[in-house]
Amino acid sequence: MCGIVGYIGDRKIDEVLLEGLRRLEYRGYDSCGLALNGGNNGIYRKRALGRIDNLASNLSKEKLFSAQSGIAHTRWATHGEPSEDNSHPHCDCSCELVVVHNGIIENYSVLKEELEKKGHKFSSQTDTEVIAHLIEEKIKEISRGFAVKHALPEPLFFEAFRRAVNLLTGSFAVSALWIKAPGLVISARMHSPLVVGCADNENFLASDVSAFLKYTKKVYFVDDGEIVALKKNSVDFYDFKGKKKNKEISVINWDLSMAEKGGYRHFMLKEIHEQPLSAQNTLAGRLLPFEENRILEEIELDKKFLLEMKEIQIIACGTAFHAGLSAKYVFEKLGIKTSADLASEFENRAALLDKKTLVIAVSQSGETADTLHAVKAAKKNGNKVLAVTNTLGSSLTREADHTFYTHCGPEIGVASTKAFLGQLTAFYMLAVNFAYVKNLINFEKAQEFCKELLSLPDLIEKALSLENKIEKLTEAFSQKEHYLFIGRDVNYPIALEGALKIKEISYVHAEGYAAGEMKHGPIAIIENGMPVLALALSSQYLDLIKGNMEEAKARGAEIIAVVDEESKKTVKAKHYLEVPKINELFSGALASIPLQLFAYYIALQRKCDIDKPRNLAKSVTVR
Ligand code: M6R
Repeated sequence: MCGIVGYIGDRKIDEVLLEGLRRLEYRGYDSCGLALNGGNNGIYRKRALGRIDNLASNLSKEKLFSAQSGIAHTRWATHGEPSEDNSHPHCDCSCELVVVHNGIIENYSVLKEELEKKGHKFSSQTDTEVIAHLIEEKIKEISRGFAVKHALPEPLFFEAFRRAVNLLTGSFAVSALWIKAPGLVISARMHSPLVVGCADNENFLASDVSAFLKYTKKVYFVDDGEIVALKKNSVDFYDFKGKKKNKEISVINWDLSMAEKGGYRHFMLKEIHEQPLSAQNTLAGRLLPFEENRILEEIELDKKFLLEMKEIQIIACGTAFHAGLSAKYVFEKLGIKTSADLASEFENRAALLDKKTLVIAVSQSGETADTLHAVKAAKKNGNKVLAVTNTLGSSLTREADHTFYTHCGPEIGVASTKAFLGQLTAFYMLAVNFAYVKNLINFEKAQEFCKELLSLPDLIEKALSLENKIEKLTEAFSQKEHYLFIGRDVNYPIALEGALKIKEISYVHAEGYAAGEMKHGPIAIIENGMPVLALALSSQYLDLIKGNMEEAKARGAEIIAVVDEESKKTVKAKHYLEVPKINELFSGALASIPLQLFAYYIALQRKCDIDKPRNLAKSVTVR
């Protein structure tokens, strides 16, 4: 939630910042702003309600002075409504010091009260503004002569910033500029993502690498409890006590084209179409020839632990939870007892976990606060945690003991599609591998599963050919306000995901149900013409789901059935969306494709803002 960008170097700072903000807009988009530090020329600050374009057009009307450094922000409101006054950057009393912040300062009201008593005047309802006033107060405190050695602007600014962040509780990635130290951008991180990009004579910082990928792939991932001092020719790291730290540079292998629309109307559609390739990347080099130790070595998990492991506990949020819930069925069908919980509802269960339970935390971003909190609870209980994530260097990878990357490339659309498929695919591989290691399936069976999994990219490509049919079909449904999605077993979570997709980008009412549950209540809401999307693929439950579809039809539902070649022969529906047949264990991956396209085209017909749906943000870093 919220994106921050910073730059120091010789380029046109406003342009670098605006471009960075555009790439981070998916993180929040109710308001935005930037500040440039021109030293003797002053601090220039501009903010705007709404999208980056509003800010850019306001800037284009003004003559900007030359500056040495700048910071910028795109906001997803937590404290204070979306308004220009509540937009970042926020400043101190004299507007000589500015800050941008992603996260939540939990103790801001106490700090604010103390600062107000000391005469500070606040001009917003945000928690963030307190940071600017706190640094201002610390500058005054130090300048009063407590520490003469800090009299030079840069050390003084650093020390004031350091003292201020030590007083904050909650989560923050915060960056600040001070008029008297224009050659320095100082930032700190605690539980909110922050990454530094390095190039010759210029340096960048941002909430995620896509903001500066155009300029450099060399990055430092800032850790919790670190302060970064960014100058044009240097990047220095310190802990919160002010002790200098050495850090290793990483090189990102994503390129910019992966983070651009590439001719598609929306990132969501581009990402739906990228799925054959992203699934291939998820699978690459991990399956054939099937070797039992390959995945274990990659995730650095001890075979002995796996042999003794009694149970798996999956935790995740939103779409990632649906992937985890579908995986629960897959693990259990292969004989491994598994539970899946929403990360936000998990905390008290952690203490009840057996120490031999492997916790798998799933998150595209690796920054979801609820998931990170649940992981901490599991670790506190002494459980091993395996992260399944798409994001290199994310907080989750640092909290977890083991990591299995989905390798999907950047996902920009707020509605998750290719990351979901990557998570399912990653789980399929883990399930086959774990089942083999635990002697629950033999080598031939494992090999057979692997071959099926390797055919996924081609089968996804085939499923995508439904696009034209779905586009046409949605014309007839776009005005409907209620949708039902039903499925059983591995496809029950896919029904939940289908409903979530359409809700989040079309703002219509949709529910996903375990098909067998319909008769226990929800069937009462069916009325004439209500669209019911039924996942009716070949499986041990096909006859049962056919019965559930009949029950819905008898009450007036208009059935759109997702079928495969074989199930189509016996499933009766008004509309068919046929996907290729695959082993029922893995059928969720293919069933999800028409549901993604269906949601996309309904949203398109309803003229919704598909990549930036209202009230949402891509990465939810608050609890
Ligand atoms: O980054 P994560 O996978 O942890 O995100 C979890 C959810 O916030 C996310 O899947 C959300 O539900 C998506 N908007 C769904 O499309």
